[in-house]
Amino acid sequence: MNARIAGIGYYVPERIVTNEELTKVMDTTNEWIVERTGIEERRYVDKHKETTSTLAAEAAKIAIERAGLTPEDIDFIVFATLSPDYYFPGSGVLLQRHLGIKGIGCLDIRTQCTGFIYGISIADQYIKTGMYKNILVVGAEVHSAGLDFTTRGRNVTVIFGDGAGAAVLQPTEDETKGILTTNLHADGEYAEHLAFYNPGTHGGAFLKDQGGLEFPDEPDLGGMHLTQEMLDKEAIYPHMNGRYVFKHAVEKFPAAIEEACEAVGCTADDINMLIPHQANLRITQMIQLKFGFEDERVYNNIQKYGNTTAASIPIALCEAWEKGLIKEGDLVCLAAFGSGFTWGAAMIRW
Ligand code: UT7
Repeated sequence: MNARIAGIGYYVPERIVTNEELTKVMDTTNEWIVERTGIEERRYVDKHKETTSTLAAEAAKIAIERAGLTPEDIDFIVFATLSPDYYFPGSGVLLQRHLGIKGIGCLDIRTQCTGFIYGISIADQYIKTGMYKNILVVGAEVHSAGLDFTTRGRNVTVIFGDGAGAAVLQPTEDETKGILTTNLHADGEYAEHLAFYNPGTHGGAFLKDQGGLEFPDEPDLGGMHLTQEMLDKEAIYPHMNGRYVFKHAVEKFPAAIEEACEAVGCTADDINMLIPHQANLRITQMIQLKFGFEDERVYNNIQKYGNTTAASIPIALCEAWEKGLIKEGDLVCLAAFGSGFTWGAAMIRW
């Protein structure tokens, strides 16, 4: 028994933030952002009205309706995010509440950019064992709430945007259809190269010798309670060693795609549509070049939404499907790399 995507939806906040708008608060330019990342604009929530779980609920409602279901039919939720509404509980239970479903299990997962691929892999296993029938897998992020809107944070801030994507997975008797394989990888050796340290239980001293830490000699700059010193030293923002991440991404993306091809006995030439995590247009172009994919076989929307981490693959997959670029019988490959480091791929026969 395979799991297939029975319904898919996405939702992005209305507010468009152009590169030009960012130049008003930090030392950056439209040219730099477009040239280095491909991003032209991104969406930000109205922080008084929207949260990660409300974005997720909008995307989920569309996916559920397209699957021909009502929220009561969902029997398990997998919620991927690095920007939850609360430190705890996870956003899965909040999504469950928004949808008005009581009693079903909700699992929050924290594998960042690879979250949707981990999520559908988990759903696939539950469906294969017969444990659940209608699983909602969601990736949602509100990055705008946590970014550093000064020049100091510009290498991270210009990249990220808010949004949500969702899919309902169901069993199919047709073994040639649905999720054919997933591969999941991680290497915690690189955890601090793309991380949001505070609040956290680490205490700065523990991380003293770890690569990528911005505040290695300041043990007080870690902890669950934000201190005035942390605020003064701006130790409250995400940290990214951009070039280092880039270097690993262009190796791991192709490795995960090749592994998925091998698992299903095909070559990259057989892939009808590659939906890469929208990290940086330059990363995607390098992958495209490596495999010789024509433009029509790779979907990009980073230009409009920036990098929406766990939401990026389901948003792109849904948009490509809505545009008629994915048809029944197509071989669709999802691939991602990001914080953790985590990476992986999935191969789906649509
Ligand atoms: O989805 C999660 C995974 N994340 C990724 O995959 C991100 C991977 N990395 C990247 O996408 C790229 O490394 C970035 C887009 C983040 C940065 O591009 P880069 O070409 O690697 O630039 P850089 O960090 O090496 O910085 C080059 C220069 C620096 O100035 P100097 O030292 O050469 O004078 C930066 O200070 O560009 C400067 N810079 C900026 N300038 C204008 C960094 N950010 C900006 C900015 N505007 N926003």
